[in-house]
Amino acid sequence: MREAQRILITGASSGIGRALALGYAAPRRSLLLLGRDAARLELVVQECRAKGAAVETSIVDVRDRLAMAACVEQAGERQSIDLLIANAGVATGLSPGQFVEDPQAVRGAFAINVLGVFNTVEPAIAPMCQRKNGHIAVVGSMAGLRGLPHSPAYCATKAAVHLYADSLRGALARHGVNVSLIVPGFVKTPMNAKLNGWQPGALSDEQAARIIKRGLERGAAVIAFPLFVYYAMRLFTVLPPRIVDSVMARFHYELAQTTEREEP
Ligand SMILES: NC(=O)c1ccc[n+]([C@@H]2O[C@H](COP(=O)([O-])OP(=O)(O)OC[C@H]3O[C@@H](n4cnc5c(N)ncnc54)[C@H](OP(=O)(O)O)[C@@H]3O)[C@@H](O)[C@H]2O)c1
Repeated sequence: MREAQRILITGASSGIGRALALGYAAPRRSLLLLGRDAARLELVVQECRAKGAAVETSIVDVRDRLAMAACVEQAGERQSIDLLIANAGVATGLSPGQFVEDPQAVRGAFAINVLGVFNTVEPAIAPMCQRKNGHIAVVGSMAGLRGLPHSPAYCATKAAVHLYADSLRGALARHGVNVSLIVPGFVKTPMNAKLNGWQPGALSDEQAARIIKRGLERGAAVIAFPLFVYYAMRLFTVLPPRIVDSVMARFHYELAQTTEREEP
C-alpha cells in the first residue's frame, strides 16, 4: 500500500491515539490530531513536532456531528486525508453491587463509541471515493466479539462498530477505499486503568501502536492483538452460550461506569 502522508486520528490526546500519533510522527507526515483536552493534546503535538511531523489540531467532541463534519471536510480540503483513524472512545461497566447500568451512562457510551465513529468516518467517505484512494480504520475491541458480564453496554458499542467497519469494507472496496477494523485486547492506558481484574496479554500503548501501524501499512482487514485472546474470544462465540457464561463467571471484573452523557 502507498504510505499514508496525511493522517487524522481522533482521541489523540491519550492512550492508543497518542501512541499512534507519536508512531506516525516523522518528517513529511502531516498529522491531524483531534481530542477534547487541549492541554494534553498540546503535549502530544509538541512531541510529534519534535519528531519532524507537521501537526494540526482540533478540539472537538466526536458527539458533535456538525463540528466533526466541518473539521474532517475542511482538513480534507486543505490536503486530502490518506488515513483516518476513528479511535476516540470511552469504557463503561458495572461496579460492585451494581446490577444495572445507568441509562445515561449507556447512552453516553453509545453517543461516543458508536455515533462518534459515524461522525468521524461519514464526512471522509465521499472525498475518498471520489479520489478512489484512502484508508479508514475503526478501533473496536475484543469486547465487541462476545458480550462480557461486567460491561454490557460497552460490548454492545464495540460490536456495533465491528459490523459497521466490516460492512463499509465491502461497500467501499470497489471505490478504491480500504477499511481496517482494529481489535485490541488489553492495552495499558488511562482507560484501561479503570478496569479492575485479570488482564491477560496486556500490552503498552506503544506496543499496541506498533502492531496497529504495521497492520495498517499492509492494509489488513482486521488487526487483532494479542492473537491468543482473539482466538479465545472467537471460540467463545461458537461454544454453547451457557458454558461460556459459566467460564466468564469465574473471573471477577469491575469497571466504573462512565460519567459521559448523550450530549457533549
Ligand atoms: N485500553 C484498552 O485496553 C482498550 C482495549 C480495547 C479497545 N480500546 C479502544 O481504544 C480506543 C482508545 O482507548 P484508550 O485506551 O487509548 O483510552 P484513553 O487513554 O482513555 O483515550 C481515549 C481518547 O478518546 C478521547 N475521547 C473520549 N471521548 C471523546 C469525545 N466525546 N470526543 C472526543 N474525544 C473523546 C479522549 O480525548 P480527551 O481525553 O481529550 O477527552 C482520549 O484521547 C477506544 O475506542 C477504546 O474503546 C482500548
